[in-house]
Amino acid sequence: MTRIVVVGSINMDLVTQAPRFVGPGETILGERFLTVPGGKGANQAVAAARLGAEVALVGAIGDDALGRQLREGLATEKVDLSHVVQLAGSASGTASITVAGGENQIIVVPAANARVTPAQVEGAQSLIARADAVLVQMEIPLETVEATLRLGHRLGVPVLLNPAPAQKLPIDWLRFARYVTPNQHELAILLGADPTEDFRTLMQRAPCPIVLTRGGDGAWYREQGDPIHRSGFNVAVVDSTGAGDTFNAALAVFLAEGLPSAVRKACAAAALSVTKLGAQGGMPTLHEVTFFLAQQKG
Ligand code: RIB
Repeated sequence: MTRIVVVGSINMDLVTQAPRFVGPGETILGERFLTVPGGKGANQAVAAARLGAEVALVGAIGDDALGRQLREGLATEKVDLSHVVQLAGSASGTASITVAGGENQIIVVPAANARVTPAQVEGAQSLIARADAVLVQMEIPLETVEATLRLGHRLGVPVLLNPAPAQKLPIDWLRFARYVTPNQHELAILLGADPTEDFRTLMQRAPCPIVLTRGGDGAWYREQGDPIHRSGFNVAVVDSTGAGDTFNAALAVFLAEGLPSAVRKACAAAALSVTKLGAQGGMPTLHEVTFFLAQQKG
């Protein structure tokens, strides 16, 4: 069984479905409200577990009711939580999300996620040493992201860096990642580049292999030479929250099959994930991805 370690955030998502986004100072009536588990780290852990991997998460929750609910949800998904700490006196991370017309707007309050430490990553060293891949994102302190990249590199375990939410990083860190998986906007910020510059040019300028997500248009990937396009799949979009997380998880789970196959399956998993409300609501099982792909032509 593929073994994945995820180092990242755990949030409770407070999701409002609305006919449109509000402007400053405006009040409108929403259509639906729900409280569902989220956070980029937790989402990637759940997506990888549903795809059949053995998954451990390194992260933090608060000692509040949300933290207890989040822990229970992850345990139900069979995610190993032995490296998730519950922090006394801290609140759990939250994300206020508005979903309108399949798009979203998100405000994250990191809370406990801001206290995920490099020491926690070092503490998971034996787990990471046995992993087939490590996933890390940027809703936790950057020093912890760096520690994850360096440890994975030192141990010879591929680390997939999902640079979201977008921030500029020291360019040297990117060399420790097996793949960096931004969208177009995140890649420009990561490299300190002009956001209007062609993303294929930016991919070629990056000091590491890039797998770039393009929403419904699929993904582009580049190890060497020219970037290669993998088309997306046509589905009815309900909520795109968590699509990137599903993509990253699938990429890690199927990495051993080689990049073309892993990217195709990641596009399929991400497509399925947007057909239901909530970040984890539409994350598919391995069987669902296999069935979906069997129905496609490309
Ligand atoms: O990537 C989607 C996630 O971003 C949401 O679940 C939310 O918690 C934010 O972290």
